[in-house]
Amino acid sequence: MDTFEAIQARKSIRSYQDKPVPRAVLERILEAGRLAPSAANTKPWHFIAVVNQEKRKILSKGVYAKFAAEAPLVIVVLGNKKTSPDWYTVDASLAAENMVLAAVNEGLGTCFVGSFNESEVKAALKVPENFKVLVMITVGYPKEKLDLTSKLLRLVQSRKQISEVASEEEFTKPFVPQKNAEH
Ligand SMILES: Cc1cc2nc3c(=O)[nH]c(=O)nc-3n(C[C@H](O)[C@H](O)[C@H](O)COP(=O)(O)O)c2cc1C
Repeated sequence: MDTFEAIQARKSIRSYQDKPVPRAVLERILEAGRLAPSAANTKPWHFIAVVNQEKRKILSKGVYAKFAAEAPLVIVVLGNKKTSPDWYTVDASLAAENMVLAAVNEGLGTCFVGSFNESEVKAALKVPENFKVLVMITVGYPKEKLDLTSKLLRLVQSRKQISEVASEEEFTKPFVPQKNAEH
């Protein structure tokens, strides 16, 4: 799978098989995060791989995070507010997407989760004060059948056209693709 294929294949998956993510696969995913670029090479991130079921239950308390209890692995992405106050959100997000694409390449399904109570997550995972919990990533082998939430979202959601999200030379000149590269 090349990078563009992985980007195309990535979709939020919210239902997982009862099958653990092998340690070697987890290591490759974390490695993809570790190799992300960062402003002034500050690397203002930290990733916590959570497999423990009791902990995952705590992470799944958010209204839109129930499936975090079912996912065999949740990666919690933290940003260091102290080392890079201006860029930690950008840098840690780049690392997060790197990890998601690496997971897709391994045949795994993922979903970003922003539905959580930060204080609860910090307490459960013993996160130091200077780190912000930015996002969680659920990871696991997808169930054959798509879960209901993802099915419904796919019915109502659509992707914006390139010309709606990109411009040429200045904001007011929409980028017009020569051939239809959109999906
Ligand atoms: C920062 C962020 C937070 C998200 N939080 C949640 C969430 O709490 N629960 C959920 O089910 N999906 C969550 N999503 C997934 C989005 O709903 C999903 O990416 C979007 O609907 C597009 O669908 P796709 O990922 O299948 O392309 C989140 C995505 C991002 C980027």
